[in-house]
Amino acid sequence: MFNNTYPYRSSMSTTVSKSFKLLANIIKKKLKPKLILEIGSNDGTFMRNFNKNKIIGIEPCKNVEKITKQKKLNTHPLYWNDKTAKFLRSKYGKFDLIFSANTLSHIKNLDNVFKNVYNLLSETGVLIIEDPSLLECLKKNTYDQFYNEHIYVFSCVALNKILKKNKLEIYKVEKLNIHGGSNRYFIKKISDKKNIDKSFLKQIKNEKKYGLTNKKTYFKFAKRVNKSKNKLRSIFVKLKKQKNKVIGYGATAKSTTILNFCNINNNYIEYFLDTTQDKQNKYTPGTKIKIIKYKNEIEKNIKYIFLGAWNFKEEILKKEKKFIKRGGKFIIHTPYPKII
Ligand code: TYD
Repeated sequence: MFNNTYPYRSSMSTTVSKSFKLLANIIKKKLKPKLILEIGSNDGTFMRNFNKNKIIGIEPCKNVEKITKQKKLNTHPLYWNDKTAKFLRSKYGKFDLIFSANTLSHIKNLDNVFKNVYNLLSETGVLIIEDPSLLECLKKNTYDQFYNEHIYVFSCVALNKILKKNKLEIYKVEKLNIHGGSNRYFIKKISDKKNIDKSFLKQIKNEKKYGLTNKKTYFKFAKRVNKSKNKLRSIFVKLKKQKNKVIGYGATAKSTTILNFCNINNNYIEYFLDTTQDKQNKYTPGTKIKIIKYKNEIEKNIKYIFLGAWNFKEEILKKEKKFIKRGGKFIIHTPYPKII
């Protein structure tokens, strides 16, 4: 999956770019690391905020790694594993900061992941990771967060247990609006005496209160997911009956999950618009909807758009003011299927 045709580019989204820039400023001011490592550096959207000598990236998808190299950023086309960790240790020594966004939850063996992080992190070093939050996922019925490359969707409770097995622990949590509700975890070595922030305790309390540690919660979630499927399908069936032309916006992996699960195929959606070059002129898996290049304009005869990239709702709604002004509507499945 993470090969030289990987389509995702962090820089495609201004939300992601801005969020990385803000974080980079905080890191520079507060943590002042001498050497930074990014695991899964994609096209260098985070790295470009730092002095080129201070940050090293690893990125196994050779096509995107090439982009960072062209920008003269120091990256290696490698997976995060024992061999890579050994190589980095011998070439660069230890790191004061390791950053990884939406990457570690894609790797199966988390014990191995964190063992290697521990070995590469300096004694007072910090690991910052960002990933979708299980709590938000359940609250917003975003069942489409569960798909092939998302092996895990972390809760703070579960993540801290795995970290502790590897002599690491969370000391602070920030909530992010990114990707439908993510958490940014600040992690340290247990032996480092940094204070545990209230935000961590609050998150644990909220997760337990919601029932994340209770099996029943997940059965209830399953019921809501089935309800969501029926409702979304009924919206599409009704629009088709009324002879409306519907298109999709943002051919995400998430929307592939929704469409296949809800049996919504090229009978219901004419085509998808997407800004990612590598997706254009291809088809959505299983539902065979053609993906077309986004050209800053929605066809005049389109009134309904299924928002596949719902995780960038605010950004897209802002961008599509013209479409909305002329009465255009978006179909969205979260927190429950509706037309907005
Ligand atoms: P992504 O967030 O990676 O979701 P997933 O992990 O589920 O695939 O994908 C976002 C997709 O949406 C990406 O292909 C780019 C596209 N997109 C647009 O076409 N226009 C936009 O304005 C935005 C923000 C994204």
